[in-house]
Amino acid sequence: MDKIRIVGGNALSGTIPISGAKNAALPLMIAGLLTPDRLTLENVPRLRDVALLQRILTNHGVDYSLDGKRPGQDPLAGQTIHFQARDIVDTTAPYELVSQMRASFWVIGPLLARMGEARVSLPGGCAIGTRPVDFFISGLKALGADIDIDRGYVVARAPGGRLLGGRVTFPKVSVGATHTVMMAATLAKGETVIENAAREPEVVDLAACLVAMGAEIEGAGTETIRIQGKRDLHGAWHSVLPDRIETGTYAMAVAMTGGSLDLVNTAPELLSSALGVLADAGVSIEPLKTGIRVRRDGGGIRPVDVTTEPFPGFPTDLQAQFMALMTRAEGTTRITETIFENRFMHVAELVRLGARIHLDGQVATVEGVDRLIGAPVMATDLRASVSLVIAGLAAEGDTTVSRVYHLDRGFERLEEKLSRCGAAIERLSGEGSR
Ligand code: EPZ
Repeated sequence: MDKIRIVGGNALSGTIPISGAKNAALPLMIAGLLTPDRLTLENVPRLRDVALLQRILTNHGVDYSLDGKRPGQDPLAGQTIHFQARDIVDTTAPYELVSQMRASFWVIGPLLARMGEARVSLPGGCAIGTRPVDFFISGLKALGADIDIDRGYVVARAPGGRLLGGRVTFPKVSVGATHTVMMAATLAKGETVIENAAREPEVVDLAACLVAMGAEIEGAGTETIRIQGKRDLHGAWHSVLPDRIETGTYAMAVAMTGGSLDLVNTAPELLSSALGVLADAGVSIEPLKTGIRVRRDGGGIRPVDVTTEPFPGFPTDLQAQFMALMTRAEGTTRITETIFENRFMHVAELVRLGARIHLDGQVATVEGVDRLIGAPVMATDLRASVSLVIAGLAAEGDTTVSRVYHLDRGFERLEEKLSRCGAAIERLSGEGSR
């Protein structure tokens, strides 16, 4: 299995192009199931989760093809992929595939809306929490679906073959349930109103793509989304929005090492809350034409307390990276995780690098230290792994991060992007890494 080796201590300086957002690309790809026509997505990141979802969609009958690289194109530029679900050949999403990636459960919305039936494996728990699917079930029931749980599968049927518009009020904000019910409602008969909808930019991006496919949607990005269902949707072309979590991750990396990074092909308004926290921590952030310049020269890192919240609050997907940064702050920080109950697996690994962190339920108290010292550490989930990379960049000596397949799920060419900016980071592959 691959490992990543980092020799810490180099300041970062240079330009990093930000990829398309994984968490937008996945639901956009799933939206391709809603129409027999071709959906073209540009700026799709090259990630393990994207490749896995391609496999899952193929199983349902989706053909896909990639545009070849243009001569002289930056190898870091996103890919263009055409998806076409002319015929849905299978409405079952099997356990072997769904258990590998939770977001693949979301196919239940489009399959049910287009085919009147879907049989999708329950995704099971995952490292960051139990992550139930009750909001999906109640949401689809509100659209008229009959739903049973049968031997580990959610079996959903639309009586008469078509869903009916309805009113869905989520008890708690859920990104995935909002995506799923919104997609399902585009082909339902009549109006659907989703209350307490997720306001994440990825929901807005999906809605924009669905509208380009002929859907009628209002209010995406607010708490109330209204959808007027259509008989059919058609093909469209859509460019995936920039990855706000990747942007925030590199911003925290340079805040940690010192130096100056231009993060380009991104949009700072997608992560105002995280950038505000970084500014409070003493990091300089200036707007650029297509991104931001993030700089920290000389000055120390001030401690700032954060609590994770649904958008527009501080994202849970940046909590681990921010904790890595706060391990070097000049004082004590309290970090409260409110979205997932088990998203502190990086704590024990950061402690191996010399961090001082005390965990009490959903609150981590981080006491800043003068230095971190490199050590072998283990990646446990996507965002936790990258927090170890960030810490390793600022630690003295060698850090090796094992189980890096977690990183490959969500960070495109991480080592290349960082080494272009002066980091001493390399991938040790297979045999050589044991
Ligand atoms: C999305 O997950 C993201 N995944 C996550 O990113 C992100 O951390 C999360 O939203 C929160 O922002 C993708 O977009 C692919 P939720 P999702 O439903 O949709 C509870 C990453 O690292 N809940 O908004 O699965 C749930 O347990 C990943 O890229 C129910 O109780 O998250 C959690 O506590 C990890 N019942 C809360 O809601 C349900 O039926 C929010 O989860 C659904 C959710």
